[in-house]
Amino acid sequence: MALVLISGLRGGVGTTMLAANLAITVGAMGRSSVALALAPHSTLGLHFGLDPHQALPGFAASSSDSGAIHGVRLLDASGQAASGDLGDGLSSGDYSFAGDAIHIADLSGTDARVAAQLRAHADVELCVLVPSAECVYALPAALETLPDNALFLLNRNDDTRRLARHTASFVRELLGDRLIATIQADEAVAEAAAMMQPLMRHAPASAALADIAALGERLATLPRSREDSVQTVDRAWRSNAA
Ligand SMILES: Nc1ncnc2c1ncn2[C@@H]1O[C@H](COP(=O)(O)OP(=O)(O)OP(=O)(O)O)[C@@H](O)[C@H]1O
Ligand SMILES: [Mg+2]
Repeated sequence: MALVLISGLRGGVGTTMLAANLAITVGAMGRSSVALALAPHSTLGLHFGLDPHQALPGFAASSSDSGAIHGVRLLDASGQAASGDLGDGLSSGDYSFAGDAIHIADLSGTDARVAAQLRAHADVELCVLVPSAECVYALPAALETLPDNALFLLNRNDDTRRLARHTASFVRELLGDRLIATIQADEAVAEAAAMMQPLMRHAPASAALADIAALGERLATLPRSREDSVQTVDRAWRSNAA
């Protein structure tokens, strides 16, 4: 089992896009993959060709109720998250992340309570930020509140822009080996979303997909035991920091 949390340092930084496309990459690598929506009106389905108004199978759905789309089972736990049932259900064992699948949970649009409930069961939390002044200002406070073992992804990186370049180097300095991947700013990302397609389908040769695939490869090799995978993330991933 594995639970990977994708959270955003702020709204709009690409959390949902990364959760969706990482889940698709993991599935394409032959590992059973589940993408978990936690916010009401999640846009996760958009990246799989689903109308965002279309209801996804509930978190408790058996695998037969929820067929894979682009190699990923999409599940919606927003009801359980809103009612508080998620934390209780995970503690009592009614809900679990057991099995071979890698669960990738999109925390964008959720509150701190939902994140806290899931953290107790997560192998790793990847917090997304972009090279912007707003993220730089938000970072010190986030470092105080996020768990010590949370790692970071720098999305929408653009080395051709001076401000983005300088901001990225400041972020690198601040985060050190906790910044484990950089994903390029790439028009193909917005185009793929507009076409309601996975990046892999819409722009297989895109720069952003290459970065996402490299990260997805690491996720796909997470050991099946949580204890082993927490250690792998802490040692191997941080030693290969971005
Ligand atoms: N690497 C990238 N290059 C270019 N555009 C990107 C990239 N990553 C994300 N985007 C664009 O940024 C926008 C926000 O993405 P997304 O909805 O995934 O963010 P979010 O953090 O989940 O937002 P919210 O807080 O609203 O849930 C989208 O228009 C998406 O296409
Ligand atoms: Mg989102």
